[in-house]
Amino acid sequence: MDQNPPAVSKITVPAILERKLRGEKTTCLTAYDYSTARLVDEAGIEMILVGDSLAQTMLGYDSTVPVTVDEMLHHLKAVRRGVRRALLIVDLPYGAYHLSNEQGLASALRFVKEGGAEAVKLEGGRQRARLVRRIVEAQIPVMGHIGLTPQSIHTLGGYRVQGRTLDAATELLADAEALEEAGAFALVLEGIPRELAAIITRRLRIPTIGIGAGPDCDGQVLVFHDLVGLSYNPPAKFVRNYANLRATLHQALVDFRIDVREGGYPGDHESYHWTSAVREQFEKESTRPA
Ligand code: KIV
Repeated sequence: MDQNPPAVSKITVPAILERKLRGEKTTCLTAYDYSTARLVDEAGIEMILVGDSLAQTMLGYDSTVPVTVDEMLHHLKAVRRGVRRALLIVDLPYGAYHLSNEQGLASALRFVKEGGAEAVKLEGGRQRARLVRRIVEAQIPVMGHIGLTPQSIHTLGGYRVQGRTLDAATELLADAEALEEAGAFALVLEGIPRELAAIITRRLRIPTIGIGAGPDCDGQVLVFHDLVGLSYNPPAKFVRNYANLRATLHQALVDFRIDVREGGYPGDHESYHWTSAVREQFEKESTRPA
């Protein structure tokens, strides 16, 4: 098994496109700070997304809607310091591109220049095609995101699977083709039927990266906290827990509390010591009459 992926060169946008041509699956995970970025990068994951899901996982908001460009930038900078090999992508959060295409480009430029992002992701289909083209023309690679788009929660009326009917599926296919045409280098398909994801994947030259879109996509993305069992939300159907870190960490913290209370921590071997010369000198000084 590929436990330690070989040290390979930096993952770039052309490298991601070539993977689709070679029929190689691509992996993507979110990371939100230096330590998660290092873990993900060192595991050989090809793409790291500073997702706006950090609104929930890191900041405790109840949706991705409130998170700001400045909050995203703070996390992006920390992730940048931990990533050496993976392609680093950041989400344009809600409100960072909804006023105008110029605003969207300005937000993307900030993430690249100040935060070190190598690509941006944004949600929406045909209505975002012009913006995608505008950002790509400024030499910033763009990843699209269609289907269940969490920034549209108020319009969608909940986190529901999209593209279930023939009409809805036709709309999503048109969105996917428009984003490819506009220059997106990859497309996240979230919360859509497996059959539709397979058709979109076959139709596009750019890779599709699925989340709740079945196994036929060119790659898969998950939220870091879901994969390692750190999330507080009930897991969606598509989430597989590869670890149960919440339980592991909870036990570690409780053990610490008990050890301290009962005098089991720290032990002598976890303490610093004087040399015997200093100890003897101290004992001599303290027994000398004043
Ligand atoms: O913000 C996020 O984490 C995402 C992925 C789940 C695709 O957009």
